Amino acid sequence: MKIHEYQGKELLKKYGVTVPQGFLATSVEEAYEAAKKLGGVSVVKAQIHAGGRGKGGGVKVAKSPEEAKEHAQSILGMMLKTHQTGPEGQEVKKLWVEQGCNIAKEFYLGMVLDHDGQYRRWYGDRRSCSQKSRKNS
Ligand SMILES: Nc1ncnc2c1ncn2[C@@H]1O[C@H](COP(=O)(O)OP(=O)(O)OP(=O)(O)O)[C@@H](O)[C@H]1O
Ligand SMILES: [Mg+2]
Repeated sequence: MKIHEYQGKELLKKYGVTVPQGFLATSVEEAYEAAKKLGGVSVVKAQIHAGGRGKGGGVKVAKSPEEAKEHAQSILGMMLKTHQTGPEGQEVKKLWVEQGCNIAKEFYLGMVLDHDGQYRRWYGDRRSCSQKSRKNS
């Protein structure tokens, strides 16, 4: 199953996890309206099924709704290439326009279920900490 960042955040929000406020946009005008509603600093984020979007130019911080509009113009419709998309990239059809945050620390957490039920794998910090554990241990 693949879900976008905005869908993940909607799920987390539903279960009481605090997430930054944001709006989905499928056009430049919607992105502009979203940034106006958020006010202040916003972040325009390409919604594709791959990580590394920031490094690939698919995540851009805007200090004003006008700047968010410019970012939306450049990101929407682009073939975004990251280390997870393959050389052809993925077309950006949706944007998540989110309130800008002062990020103190970034954490990475992922979980993979083996369907035979024998193993449960948790991946912490993607660079330095991965761990495999038996279900009953
Ligand atoms: N709401 C936000 N406020 C401020 N900065 C943000 C926000 N969202 C993302 N960023 C910045 O943009 C970067 C890229 O966003 P994010 O990590 O969500 O995407 P990614 O696909 O994992 O890309 P990367 O691999 O480049 O981190 C973040 O590391 C962070 O510096
Ligand atoms: Mg990231």
